[in-house]
Amino acid sequence: MIKQVLFILVLLMSPLAGFSQDNLLINVYNRTTTSLSGDWKYIIDPYENGYYNYRYQPFDQQESPWASAFFLNSKQKNPSDLLEYDFDGMDNITVPGDWNSQKPELLYYEGTLWYKKSFDYNRSQLSNKVFIYFEASNYKTEVYLNGQKLGTHIGGFTPFHFDVSDLLKEKDNFLIVKVDNKRSKDGVPTLNTDWWNYGGLTRDVKLVEIGSTYIQDYFIQLAPNNNKQIKGYIQLDGVNKSKQIVQIEIPELNISKQLIADINGYVSFKIDANKIQYWSTVTPHLYDVTLKVEGDEIMDQIGFRTIRTEGSKILLNDKPIYLKGISIHEESPLRDGRGHSEEDAEQLLDWVQELGCNYVRLAHYPHNEHMVRLADQKGILVWEENPVYWTISWENNETYENAENQLSELIARDQNRASVIIWSMANETPNVPARNIFLSKLAKFTKSKDETRLISAALEQKDYQGNPLIRTIDDPFAEEVDILSFNQYIGWYDGLPSKCETISWNIQQDKPVLISEFGAGAKQGLHGDQNTRWTEEFQENLYSKSLKMINGIDKVQGISPWVLVDFRSPRRVLPKIQDGWNRKGLISDDGYKKKAFYILQNFYKNK
Ligand code: GCU
Repeated sequence: MIKQVLFILVLLMSPLAGFSQDNLLINVYNRTTTSLSGDWKYIIDPYENGYYNYRYQPFDQQESPWASAFFLNSKQKNPSDLLEYDFDGMDNITVPGDWNSQKPELLYYEGTLWYKKSFDYNRSQLSNKVFIYFEASNYKTEVYLNGQKLGTHIGGFTPFHFDVSDLLKEKDNFLIVKVDNKRSKDGVPTLNTDWWNYGGLTRDVKLVEIGSTYIQDYFIQLAPNNNKQIKGYIQLDGVNKSKQIVQIEIPELNISKQLIADINGYVSFKIDANKIQYWSTVTPHLYDVTLKVEGDEIMDQIGFRTIRTEGSKILLNDKPIYLKGISIHEESPLRDGRGHSEEDAEQLLDWVQELGCNYVRLAHYPHNEHMVRLADQKGILVWEENPVYWTISWENNETYENAENQLSELIARDQNRASVIIWSMANETPNVPARNIFLSKLAKFTKSKDETRLISAALEQKDYQGNPLIRTIDDPFAEEVDILSFNQYIGWYDGLPSKCETISWNIQQDKPVLISEFGAGAKQGLHGDQNTRWTEEFQENLYSKSLKMINGIDKVQGISPWVLVDFRSPRRVLPKIQDGWNRKGLISDDGYKKKAFYILQNFYKNK
């Protein structure tokens, strides 16, 4: 019997049947979807026994994969059948959610874990296309539906999807996903980071139903040099995209315009508009924008604003603004593990507003979409970052392609979010020729995708002409960014807080300066004198001294201290103080504010 099953599968699984990922479908947030969240079955597979045969050949590249290939979801048909796995006999794991925080035996696990979800599917009569859409999965993900490989995605923090229109059945579909979160030298990020390597289906998985011709991509924003003109493009996809009529409606601006797509389903436009209420941190006004094409209609909520620099000023809608920020890692404040829910985002951004911020640095990788959608609504400006962190394999072209692809997926997802003003290329990368070429290429790519935002990267400061008491930024990439950002830890990694009083700065670039990180560790509830490490008083004093120093640095137009909340890191092992947590949070991992929180809050109140 198994042989017959295999024969049928071989037909289905011929290499030609492999599905490549389509161009990213944007604004799934507002589309009709069927969530596949909830309980999934899982198998831990550190030896990837469900993927490779004993000769280490991938089953899904074999003409006749053995029944032991996990993506076949094989079942024992006869008592004599040999089978050494059975998804349905396994425990459940919740999706969305990293696996580390769900199962004690998986806290430090780095390797492959297989997920299986069975479901029936009643396709609504209108839909002609159905995608399986993953909001994120860390890190390498291979997706199979009903025994057929859909494709592979690399990158742990950006969305991807596969067209399953011709594969879904009314009954007993089985979706099997192999997720491997092993770190690698040539990965993005690379082997060493200062955050927990949360693995798995960390965000929602859903089915998206759309018409056979649909709106795949669009970008709608004020023209960068004309704030009375709305500029953008719409890209159709599907069976009948050529020369389609596309409607764009913004009722509140009395805009209703018909456009004609070209032969590739693409149309760009410029629409004059008066009396626009510009999106800002004070009035975060969002307009309902509806796009229509025969068979598809999508609505979005878009804020219209301009962001640019002029000399050392950052101008939001042509007015200078100081970015009162804080850095955030994507960990849930409500439970252990990666954040992914709207409630997680609500709590984090409530703390951000309580601190008096108008800006957040979402470090060091793309956060979930709830964060930027909520920032749009709350009027909080956002720095989003590509996980090009520390010692990336700069000479490896695949590494570059990976970095560019992840950035491309981030930009596609968030390009219509008014709150996002900065795309960050990297964090604390070395000033070496290969890195300068890598980042320069990434910056040019970003500018080609988005002329409406600023680019930056968290650079590093150094002694000015060998004098340790004068600091400067000496980095060729500083010439390519719009905003000059750098991390500095004077008083924590570099002397004690009093050292801040001895340092002067010589920033030579005529650009706005952002201090993208400074901070100190403190165990919440540990008290002592201000020179005793890990006390709240030490951290409080570091903030006081740092803020005073920063106030004296010319051209500084904003800060995003490190970090809102304590976060897990395998690097931080000091017993009874760190215990696997980076303690530089202004708030402890169990939600208690430290004294430094109020120092920063007061600074922003008087800014
Ligand atoms: C670095 C780095 C952070 C890290 C922080 C720290 O600047 O950018 O990712 O967590 O310092 O040492 O705590």
